[in-house]
Amino acid sequence: MLSIDVSHAASFLPLPYEEALRPRLARAAQWLQNGGGKGDDFIGWVKLPRDHDREEYARILAAAKKIQSDSKALVVIGIGGSYLGARGVIECLCSPNYNLRKKSTPNIYFIGNGLSSDALADVMELLGDDDFSVNVISKSGTTTEPAVAFRFFREKLERKYGKAGAAARIYATTDRSRGALKALADAEGYETFTVPDDVGGRYSVLTAVGLLPIAVAGIDLDELMHGAQELMDRCAVNDFTNPAWQYAAIRSELYHRGKKIELLACFEPAFRFMAEWWKQLYGESEGKDNLGLFPASVDFTADLHSMGQYIQQGERHLLETVVRFAPGKRSQSVPHDALNGDGLNFLAGRTMDYINRQAMDGTLLAHVEGGVPNIILNLGENNARTMGQLIYFFEYACGLSGYLLGVNPFDQPGVEAYKKNMFALLGKPGYEELGRELRSRLEH
Ligand code: PA5
Repeated sequence: MLSIDVSHAASFLPLPYEEALRPRLARAAQWLQNGGGKGDDFIGWVKLPRDHDREEYARILAAAKKIQSDSKALVVIGIGGSYLGARGVIECLCSPNYNLRKKSTPNIYFIGNGLSSDALADVMELLGDDDFSVNVISKSGTTTEPAVAFRFFREKLERKYGKAGAAARIYATTDRSRGALKALADAEGYETFTVPDDVGGRYSVLTAVGLLPIAVAGIDLDELMHGAQELMDRCAVNDFTNPAWQYAAIRSELYHRGKKIELLACFEPAFRFMAEWWKQLYGESEGKDNLGLFPASVDFTADLHSMGQYIQQGERHLLETVVRFAPGKRSQSVPHDALNGDGLNFLAGRTMDYINRQAMDGTLLAHVEGGVPNIILNLGENNARTMGQLIYFFEYACGLSGYLLGVNPFDQPGVEAYKKNMFALLGKPGYEELGRELRSRLEH
């Protein structure tokens, strides 16, 4: 069961901080549970682990089964909140090398999360002549990156299977009634899944957005939702036994004392895309009104050999949150070597997990000594249940954190700025004047 240890961070704070924050946390919790705070039309995710649409959940499982039976690959098209959660969970639970492994489930390719021609061509080439299906995911149904990628893969499907055959292999996850994707799906007869109106993109991994690709990878959705529900119950408790209260409180306090960057660290490389998901969740939820911790991530021990120097001795504006897993099932012991040319026989017979654990503890002590407060999240075994717990924990703590900061944790007005400029430069109708202005700025 997920637990949090803030003792290596609290030592950086001169006074007990919990009591001072209690009333504000209680109010933030009230806003998350019952509304009344900023952006409260987007708190549907709070009750989602228990109150989700059972009929849709059954359709997700059925669609996953069908894709597993008729496809060698699933192309998942989406960006931001419509992408990172599914990739994070699949890589963490099934390995970043999932597509390279021998398995009975389809390969899963993520695309539409950028505008690179090479990335698009790669997926096209990797698909080759294999049977495949497409899950196109966009809550708004109008985001440029996935919409453009979908054109390519829809065309490929239609060439291969004909229009009707392609339609039977396209699954659209989008708004209940609005947006170009919904209109297209209805017109073409694609099976559709819904992103509920009151769940924003980055809080949507436990809806069809994340659940369909995750189920196709063979991950147990019931366990994932069960884990989320366990944390939902714990997060509903309004005191400091709630790990989300502890996390939100200490990072808020450290932020106000000059720790402006939070590093999410893990000693399992498979966690990398969960960290990407976390970065979006916190960056987009808190980074506004000229406020917010900057969320960054590091893969240890690899990054101890690249970022380790800065973390140990660079500017002291860092705090570190370390995700720890219990030893995995595939234990490996270091072999004995009679010659001991590398001098490593003192490790012979030790498991890699044991060695990794000493690295974790050594790093913790070194970084704390170097002035970096450490928060530890102990997750237990890396499985669907703990992943569900972690997702809900981070989401709930993020809502609390945003409210403690005084911002709306559920909007992202800043994301529009690049889109407006890109549309203007691409000559989208309606943006002509801005296009002229931007081009003249670029020329000077
Ligand atoms: O959190 C968000 O709302 C965003 O990151 C979106 O998920 C992202 O921009 C993709 O949007 P959409 O699902 O509408 O294509």
